[in-house]
Amino acid sequence: MHINRLSKLRQKMDERHIDALLVTCIQNIFYLSGFTGSTAALIVTDKDCRILVDPRYTVQARYECQDVVVHEYAGKSTIAAVAELVNELDIKKLGYEANHLTISSFRELRKNVRAEIKLRLTRDIVEGLRRVKDEREIELIRRAAAIADQAYKSIIGEIKPGMSEKDVALAIDFTLRKLGADKEAFETIAAAGPNSACPHASPTNAVLKPGQFLKMDFGAKYMHYNSDITRTICLGKASAKQRKVYQIVLDAQLKAIEAIAPGKIGKEIDAVARDYIASMGYGKNFGHGLGHAIGIDVHDGPGFSTTSDIVLKPGMVLTVEPGIYIEGWGGVRIEDDVVVTETGAEVITTSPKQLVCV
Ligand code: GLY
Ligand code: MN
Repeated sequence: MHINRLSKLRQKMDERHIDALLVTCIQNIFYLSGFTGSTAALIVTDKDCRILVDPRYTVQARYECQDVVVHEYAGKSTIAAVAELVNELDIKKLGYEANHLTISSFRELRKNVRAEIKLRLTRDIVEGLRRVKDEREIELIRRAAAIADQAYKSIIGEIKPGMSEKDVALAIDFTLRKLGADKEAFETIAAAGPNSACPHASPTNAVLKPGQFLKMDFGAKYMHYNSDITRTICLGKASAKQRKVYQIVLDAQLKAIEAIAPGKIGKEIDAVARDYIASMGYGKNFGHGLGHAIGIDVHDGPGFSTTSDIVLKPGMVLTVEPGIYIEGWGGVRIEDDVVVTETGAEVITTSPKQLVCV
């Protein structure tokens, strides 16, 4: 698996005329080597792949990283250790990940590698490989999605007015872990009433009251892969306006999912949902993008937004999450995870989407 990824990476390195790549994004290091610790650097050349770790991770790296040479460093910074190793190797042009190297680390690297070694800025090389998931990755995301679905099914009967947002978030987090999640994919959102109008509200002590929307956005992390789902329910009886707004968001989401197909561009799919919501009079109430890629990161790269030029390919996994947010009143978002197939999209989060009133 990792050998395959490394050979694809080497093709990309050739195209960019670099003979080595310094990988400092920890998610990219995991993708290429299997290393699950929190600190490391990876150097990939056309001949080999080397990981630099401090003593906390030496044994772990030996277990986790097959076909990777493990270098332990101590008493110096990661970048100082990288520079020493680079100076020993026959490297002329070293690429670095511009999105994952601070300016001070870059300066430290420049100062410590031999003057004749050229440092080449790169962006999104490994991220580009991560965009299309392989079968194993899709299997893990499906598992993370299934845990999120089961958690929703398990807690929905417990939610009632009188609980606080924090109570709801805790019930979700506890249930995700009971059902096999390694942890939550991100801080669970449980936002009721006016708070539900904030797309990324943190749970508060606010008590759920009849007549409010409750928006729940959560996901499971399972073997380093994530799911991400949002459901909005109504506490007590839904008003006519609540039903109307909910149905617009649901229809926008279904239309966007229906439009997904290989070859389509990210912004085209975004426009399907956005134009529909605008046509129903709520264009100003949908400010964020329609969705993002999902995988090792919850936000695993570009997806559906007004500026996204990504071309959809089978094996991409993305969220579709339109919303309408009305300040002081409340908000609705409905989010699912989809796999792009040869002909369209397969929705892998399957929790019911008809408006639930509890
Ligand atoms: N579900 C959280 C997010 O997509 O930002
Ligand atoms: Mn999301």
